[in-house]
Amino acid sequence: MKTLIILAHPDIAGSRVNRRWKEEILKHADKFELHELYSLYPDFKIDVTKEQKLLETHDKIVLQYPLYWSNFPPLLKKWFDDVFAYGWAYGTGGTKLNGKLFSLAISAGAKEDMYSKDGIEGFSLQEVLSPFKATLNFVGAKPMADFASYGFLLGASDEDVENSAKEYIDFLLKL
Ligand SMILES: Cc1cc2nc3c(=O)[nH]c(=O)nc-3n(C[C@H](O)[C@H](O)[C@H](O)COP(=O)(O)O)c2cc1C
Repeated sequence: MKTLIILAHPDIAGSRVNRRWKEEILKHADKFELHELYSLYPDFKIDVTKEQKLLETHDKIVLQYPLYWSNFPPLLKKWFDDVFAYGWAYGTGGTKLNGKLFSLAISAGAKEDMYSKDGIEGFSLQEVLSPFKATLNFVGAKPMADFASYGFLLGASDEDVENSAKEYIDFLLKL
């Protein structure tokens, strides 16, 4: 079974990092199924049944996105609100995500040490991601390792982007 990679970038054409990561994913079409939320739902009208079916037919799911205000881009947040529905993800009969494995793959503008207690963000990235981990607990899903690559606002070179793409594909292949 392929790993489902849900990519949520509001401007993939203008992206440096996620666009490069996407190119690497597409080289491994036998292993990964890429699902781009912003190209599928530019009007934010998510096909909930289709998204639920997609999750039901995959066991490993990676959510790939650029960190926006220490959070998801808005369409990915809406995806949770719409797709993780009562009677499907939680509540009576809501068991469809039980045991599913989720991972986050994040590009960040900040440097790694900024996401720490003493850094400008004041929290570690794992602390920032804790609402997502709480969501996984609530729906009975399990976290896998996450991937994060930092420093893309502050003078990252083309080489940095290339290195991050190599690290990301290595991470995905070992997941
Ligand atoms: C609206 C907005 C909010 C952002 N907020 C954060 C943030 O909270 N933390 C951070 O590290 N980077 C933040 N960034 C920087 C992006 O995460 C960074 O530019 C992106 O990951 C680079 O990937 P890309 O080339 O694929 O767009 C923000 C960027 C935008 C446009």
